[in-house]
Amino acid sequence: GMLLPVVNAVATEPPAPAAELDPVGIAKFTQRMPLAPVLQPYLTTSTTSYYRMNLKEASKEIVPGLTTRLRTFNGSFPGPVIKAESGRRVVVRQTNSLSVPTSIHLHGAHVPQDSDGSPMDLIEPDGGTKTYTYPNTQPHANLWFHDHAHHMESENVFRGMTGTYVLTDDIERRLRLPSGAYDIPVSLRDARFAQNGELIYEMGDFRKRNVILANGKSWPYFEVAARKYRFRLTNTANQRFFALRLADGSELVQIGTDGGLLPSPYRTDTVAISPGERADVVIDFSRYPVGTTIELVNKDVAPFESADLVGKVIQFRVTRTAHDDSVVPDTLRTLPPLPAASVNRSVDMKMDETGSPGSQAYINGKTYDMDRIDTEIAYGATEIWTVKNSNQFAPHNFHMHLVQFRVLERNGQPVTSGPETGLKDTVPLKPGETVKVQATFTGYRGTYVYHCHLFDHGAMGMMANMRIS
Ligand code: C2O
Ligand code: CU
Repeated sequence: GMLLPVVNAVATEPPAPAAELDPVGIAKFTQRMPLAPVLQPYLTTSTTSYYRMNLKEASKEIVPGLTTRLRTFNGSFPGPVIKAESGRRVVVRQTNSLSVPTSIHLHGAHVPQDSDGSPMDLIEPDGGTKTYTYPNTQPHANLWFHDHAHHMESENVFRGMTGTYVLTDDIERRLRLPSGAYDIPVSLRDARFAQNGELIYEMGDFRKRNVILANGKSWPYFEVAARKYRFRLTNTANQRFFALRLADGSELVQIGTDGGLLPSPYRTDTVAISPGERADVVIDFSRYPVGTTIELVNKDVAPFESADLVGKVIQFRVTRTAHDDSVVPDTLRTLPPLPAASVNRSVDMKMDETGSPGSQAYINGKTYDMDRIDTEIAYGATEIWTVKNSNQFAPHNFHMHLVQFRVLERNGQPVTSGPETGLKDTVPLKPGETVKVQATFTGYRGTYVYHCHLFDHGAMGMMANMRIS
């Protein structure tokens, strides 16, 4: 009786994991932070810009001296930047040259269901194609795109499938915010590597993803002039929360969030972004003499983590002076009025906290079923959703497709200042927290998902369908 099961267990054991790279040995601040390439349209008409992208494997140097195989948009990591304008359509034809299915979601966008990139709307591997149409009928916003293929999104994103989509409009353009070479998208995330440079993906292993990447390089430096810069930060990590500060504690000016500019600038020493969230931040380097180096640090470090690793992000080097006629005005925009809500709902987010492989995650007690409609919404309705993180240890966040929402309350307190006063599509929930959000469902009918944006949790089932009809 004893021998056979043991033999079987050995026979079915997965191959030994590749030897892990110790991040302590990775040189910090020796590589320059690159800029993500701006994607050019192949055709432009009076109404529409046409793009194409090829989803393919590519190898990049992320950690100095090592080569890493990635799943990419067009071979770039992070993926390219699309620059779009409200009122002008963007059409993107995606060709999937990977050997896995994909679905490309434009996060934060107001789009018809067939261009939403939902988990069930797959592009076949090995040459499948799909054309996504983005009407850009919403105001300016800090959007981004990433894979969303059901059960695959977590690994596909971890292996590189993210990109930036900057939607601008006249309201934003009228302001004289830092622009051009001083307006810089930054993709922040973490990763985990083998000694041979390959990524190690293991669902839910957030404790071991302790190499911090900015625009696809581990702990880069970035040379700046002594003037104001605008950084459009996207948290593209699967599970990591960032709380970003300048090492000397000096001021960061948060001017925008997921759905574009805040009503007025928020002056702070810490900018927090959970996975999927964006922060639009102005840093004024004119306070530093040329020759200064100043680190952007992360204060969201768990007790089991090392601040020497995950507490370090980017080193800024002030290398020159430069003319600066940019301005951060006291009023940035007027938000749309909040209509009265007619429906209230509750959303409960919870997962198994054992940490065991095969853990399940739930919304209102159910794991995701792509064939089940969880929430029926009347077209045009304004609704208030009370969202709770019922876990004791696990953080979550809450993301809805199709809409930008407003955060009315956090833990029973009205939200009256700070970054959550803006338009949001993703909102963090630490263990035990509750938020009340309000959304109006107009523009398109169809089935869209809402979910936890910690990709590993979404892939474990913390996702649900809403149907607007
Ligand atoms: Cu960025 Cu459904 O996600
Ligand atoms: Cu979660």
